[in-house]
Amino acid sequence: MLEKLLRKKTAAPDRSITERIAAVKSKQVPAHVAIIMDGNGRWAKRRNLPRIAGHHEGMKTVRKITRIANELGIKVLTLYAFSTENWKRPKMEIDFLMKLPGEFLSTYLPELVEQNVKVEMIGNFEMLPDHTKHAIQRAMEATADNDGLTLNFAMNYGSRLELVESFKEIATLIADGSISVEDIDESLIGSHLMTAHLPEPDLLIRTSGEVRLSNFMLWQVAYAEFSFTDVLWPDFNASCMLSAIEDFQLRNRRFGSLEGDGNV
Ligand code: FPP
Repeated sequence: MLEKLLRKKTAAPDRSITERIAAVKSKQVPAHVAIIMDGNGRWAKRRNLPRIAGHHEGMKTVRKITRIANELGIKVLTLYAFSTENWKRPKMEIDFLMKLPGEFLSTYLPELVEQNVKVEMIGNFEMLPDHTKHAIQRAMEATADNDGLTLNFAMNYGSRLELVESFKEIATLIADGSISVEDIDESLIGSHLMTAHLPEPDLLIRTSGEVRLSNFMLWQVAYAEFSFTDVLWPDFNASCMLSAIEDFQLRNRRFGSLEGDGNV
């Protein structure tokens, strides 16, 4: 009996990727998947490589996961690429991380354009080095009219800072009489966040075995399903992504109510 139940609830790993993609697409696919890409440093350490080699390999994973997300019909993929806390890392590592958007976009922008992917960014843009800004700006402009997957980089992003900025904007509107305190509600706060134009994440994935949010989309993930895996980000592949979504599709999302249709 238990064996039967487990079989039903576990994705069959021996099916081909193509079959799994088709099966996932036949059910409700999460509109917004957010990923905390963790474990680059450990991936490199296990190979006696410098940490930056892990980040470089992680960049290649970004390409793979963007492709599968687009193929599955996911609308938004938000990737936590650099947090407001990451400035505390050694300068050499920061410099490398700041160069990655440039390398990624100069290598893969043509295929992103071809795949109808739209590049966006959340986070504090102004503090980024000029070369990082230019790379992101160029990609955003080149893909502005695309309406496939939105590839949203969280770059120099911190959720608490985002909330502080949003509260300041709202306080300013109250101070100048544009709105009153009674106008503050969840939708008003949501509309002042950097993600105002995006659906809330349905699924949050964190790689590398760490089980925390690390100041990522604290407001937005209120009803997201969480998926934690021990796989290090450079090793995360299409099969891992499919497993996370297959598991998501087995969950019963009730958004606080007692109802649920047994699917999502
Ligand atoms: C955390 O792993 C990862 C980061 C701080 C950087 C993530 C960046 C990428 C995956 C590349 C982004 C690519 C583009 C195109 C912007 P960690 O270094 O903390 O790993 P550890 O916990 O094993 O040390």
